[in-house]
Amino acid sequence: MKPLCVLGGVLLVIGCRQDMQDQPKYRPFRKSTFFGDERSARPRVAGTVGRGQLHEDSLLFSGKSGAAFADAFPVPVDEALLHRGQERYRIYCAPCHGLLGRGDGMVVRRGYRPPSSFHVERLRAQPAGYFFDAISRGFGAMPDYAAQIPVKDRWAIVAYVRALQLSQNVPVADVPADKRAELEKGAETQ
Ligand code: HEC
Repeated sequence: MKPLCVLGGVLLVIGCRQDMQDQPKYRPFRKSTFFGDERSARPRVAGTVGRGQLHEDSLLFSGKSGAAFADAFPVPVDEALLHRGQERYRIYCAPCHGLLGRGDGMVVRRGYRPPSSFHVERLRAQPAGYFFDAISRGFGAMPDYAAQIPVKDRWAIVAYVRALQLSQNVPVADVPADKRAELEKGAETQ
């Protein structure tokens, strides 16, 4: 009796098997005869916006105000942001642009196209949005980092690039008077 029961059970299970493979369904991008345009993947309904994709804040998401790059930050620039930017810069940019932004990173030393130093007049004069745009959309031989770096981190990196630029171009007048003597001593030993 017992083995029969088991056999019955097995048959029952097999009989009830719902084979999802056999149901009518579309594989990705398969042709459809149902829709007029023959596409089974339906286009987005015009005017709809995906959750989390309402990029209304132009400065935050494109670095622009109107059509031009903005020289402003959409987030407050404080010490925490600069630290974050330094960390992210060292991960994502330094391999090519170098720790100081001179365009001499390790990847470049091994043959990648050398980018311009960030410490040339042309790039010192560029607004913050220009740097945000290069990270978000790439620049010539440089790929974009939109998928790897979230928007806020991109701004943190831009803030750090600005700090790097300042670090290599401080007017002597900005050095406190009592430290200037030290500066001259340093220059002599170099
Ligand atoms: C794989 C190497 C590589 C990485 C990583 C990289 N870049 Fe670049 N970047 C380049 C190269 C090469 C160019 C110049 C491209 C060209 O002229 O075709 C460039 C150009 C730029 C420019 C434009 C400079 C100009 O001359 O106007 C900016 C700004 C910039 N990069 C910022 C960044 C920042 C910020 C990061 C980090 C998020 C980054 N890059 C990561 C290689 C890289």
